[in-house]
Amino acid sequence: MNNSTTPVLDARGLEKSFCMGASQLRVLRGVDLALHSGEVCALRGTSGSGKSTLLHLLGLLDTTDVGSLHLAGLDCTKLGRTAAARQRAKQVGFVFQQFQLLPELDALQNVLMPRRLACGWSWWSRRRDEYARAKQILSKVGLSERMSHRPTQLSGGEQQRVAVARALVSKPALLLADEPTGNLDTQTGNDVLALLLGLAREQGAAVLLATHSRSLADACDREILLVDGKLEML
Ligand SMILES: Nc1ncnc2c1ncn2[C@@H]1O[C@H](COP(=O)(O)OP(=O)(O)OP(=O)(O)O)[C@@H](O)[C@H]1O
Ligand SMILES: [Mg+2]
Repeated sequence: MNNSTTPVLDARGLEKSFCMGASQLRVLRGVDLALHSGEVCALRGTSGSGKSTLLHLLGLLDTTDVGSLHLAGLDCTKLGRTAAARQRAKQVGFVFQQFQLLPELDALQNVLMPRRLACGWSWWSRRRDEYARAKQILSKVGLSERMSHRPTQLSGGEQQRVAVARALVSKPALLLADEPTGNLDTQTGNDVLALLLGLAREQGAAVLLATHSRSLADACDREILLVDGKLEML
């Protein structure tokens, strides 16, 4: 990690509210966060404090009301839907608590999905390389024998390993993980986390991991706390 370089993620003054009928729920009230390549950071906060909301903004799955967001050198604050989707496919990997694999696709096709989105029209000319790359990362997460299994034919830990492979197949600058071990037993969760952090560190990705778990936070380089819509550095 080198703090003198430009951060992979640079968020300033992010605010997000949700309208609930006539009332407004202010969830994020001015979030500043810089993450550098290779840095692994835990995001903690009570249930409902806004961790998932923040990850969605940082991963360009939702838009901020106020503030600015730079990701991998690009100002993403006001990107339109298509440009945001392209930047997300190239630069962001997401791992969710509920795995979020596409049920009708097998493990290999799930891992290939972000590559199809990132390649667009050039997919057909690149697909041979892309298949090789997806198979390689599935092997790295220990699933070379499960590539043609659909999510319902995989255990929870295996599904999350597919999700880890899918999140990292594009070598994203930023990996966002939202309670990635929350649905797994302790041992399986530890194994998946070790895999996720090992691969992310190998690729030099910046990692932000939302978690309630102290021990998960201890496995990270640093920890931040979301309180009253703002971040406290610990
Ligand atoms: N789309 C939405 N519309 C309205 N309110 C929302 C929406 N998404 C989230 N919220 C509210 O925003 C607050 C923050 O939710 P969020 O899911 O970000 O919390 P969290 O910190 O991830 O919680 P947990 O630890 O339980 O996952 C909650 O009070 C939630 O009800
Ligand atoms: Mg959440």
